[in-house]
Amino acid sequence: HRHWPERKPLIGFTPVALEDGSGAMPSISADYEYDVMIPWGEPLEPSGPAFSWPPKAADQAKQIGIGHDGMAYFPIDQKEWALFGNKFNRGNKHRRGNRHGMLAINHEFGGNHHVLGKSAPESLEEVRTSQHAHGVSIVEIKQGRNKWRQVESKNARRIHVNTPVTFSGPAAGHALLQTPAGNIPLGTVNNCSSGATPWGTYLTCEENFNGYFGATNKEQTWSPTESHNRYGFSRGGFGYGWEKFDARFDLSNPDYRNEENRFGWVVEIDPFDATQTPVKRTALGRVKHEGATSVIGHNGRAVVYMGDDQRFDYIYKFVSADHYKKMLAAGKSPLDEGVLYVARFNEDGSGDWLPLTLDNADLAARFADMGELLVNTRIAADIVGATPMDRPEWTTVAPNGDVYCTLTNNSRRTEADAANPLAPNPDGHIIRWHDADEHTGTTFKWDIFLIAETTHGTEESFASPDGLWADPDGRLFIQTDGGQKNGLNNQMLVADTTTGKLSRLLTGVYGDEITGIAVTPDRCTMFVNTQHPGNGDPSVTNFPAPQDGVTVPRDCTIVITKKDGGIIGS
Ligand code: FEO
Ligand code: CA
Ligand code: CA
Ligand code: CA
Repeated sequence: HRHWPERKPLIGFTPVALEDGSGAMPSISADYEYDVMIPWGEPLEPSGPAFSWPPKAADQAKQIGIGHDGMAYFPIDQKEWALFGNKFNRGNKHRRGNRHGMLAINHEFGGNHHVLGKSAPESLEEVRTSQHAHGVSIVEIKQGRNKWRQVESKNARRIHVNTPVTFSGPAAGHALLQTPAGNIPLGTVNNCSSGATPWGTYLTCEENFNGYFGATNKEQTWSPTESHNRYGFSRGGFGYGWEKFDARFDLSNPDYRNEENRFGWVVEIDPFDATQTPVKRTALGRVKHEGATSVIGHNGRAVVYMGDDQRFDYIYKFVSADHYKKMLAAGKSPLDEGVLYVARFNEDGSGDWLPLTLDNADLAARFADMGELLVNTRIAADIVGATPMDRPEWTTVAPNGDVYCTLTNNSRRTEADAANPLAPNPDGHIIRWHDADEHTGTTFKWDIFLIAETTHGTEESFASPDGLWADPDGRLFIQTDGGQKNGLNNQMLVADTTTGKLSRLLTGVYGDEITGIAVTPDRCTMFVNTQHPGNGDPSVTNFPAPQDGVTVPRDCTIVITKKDGGIIGS
């Protein structure tokens, strides 16, 4: 009689054991191997200025930045790229784009000690080095004899804090985005998570932009406005010290009033055209953006899910006004016209997307126009009664339409609610929702996919979920950023969304964070990052490797393949 084969488990690899997941080098499942690519300070193209430490400002502008975070891979043979899964399958196996593509990568931050070897810059040159280490790199990469490396490219480029950018959407040209000095808009900073659009562009998210501003005025005449307070601006910032040599970042310099409003946006970058000016898409709101995950919704609308990573901040989505192809054909960006919503999670498992428009009388009473509203998106979301969450980080859309979002932790929560069920919430959780009307509706149903604390003491132990990617087969890749249990370094696990099974695929190095996920179309190569390995301290790790006598650890991209050539996560 017929013997039916058993369903192959979604996750078959041998996990990294608890005792192997700490120390100065990464650990990977015995069924996998890794290589290292584009460490901080490498030339963008092989002919560029070689790594030296600390870098010269002019060199750093042509080298890979620091703080590797969100990424997207764009196959060289396909500009029309869909991130969200339906184009990832074995049928794509023979495409050139599996071995050759553009990689867009964020450089979230690098502390002064790591970048400059001192606690504060002492000159404008050193400020420029720090600024050039931040931002985005676009590199062309190719796999040769199994190893991926960057190649010469007319489209390789660095976008950093001093790169010209432009604004579009409802707040473009608004008085709140002009300075008395009349300086043109420059730069992007603290680029944390990311996204890719269905039309083949990269979205980079400006997260903790507030910390790069400070006030030099000795008479303490600068005092924060309501908006400054809501976004966390302060006299000292995070201690980068840029304001001491670059007036643009000095909150107390009246010539540069409003410069701070030019940060906190989602920025669109064309990875296939180095001449394109990066565009800040104001319709997506100004928050501490963490992730801009695109999906095509009902009637071809472009939908973007976004987290605002701060304790008690919110989850947002943007829905374009029309079919994205229609808008593009009419010469409009789908990201310039549409509605921005903020999420309310009701106690009964239902949810509402609350529109942030002037049709709302309370918002119309508070804001003169959409430009003012969007610059102050957080204040608008407060007014409509969004649900304060436990630090929303990445969102990802599974092929069945479920959306997952990491809530990394919240040490300050004192009152639990259904969507944030722990007070305090030391290790974070992952929430899941399903929108009405294929991502374009104003209601949703939600549940808690997983609470990290409940996995304590087991082989599945993890805390502070952050990076997240749902693959087309029902796997969920979870990356962590924060103190792990059982002495583990930060890690990447793979969850089976049907059974809830969790398996540890990779652990990083002491002091780092594992973040950023990009895959080739055949899913046989995955790129992830180690960020701030050893927190920059060479006495704990010099990963990835000493070079030219320099032992400072360097953020880099870890290239993951399966020894049997299989799909990553299987
Ligand atoms: Fe930069 Fe919210 O992680
Ligand atoms: Ca980070
Ligand atoms: Ca993050
Ligand atoms: Ca984080």
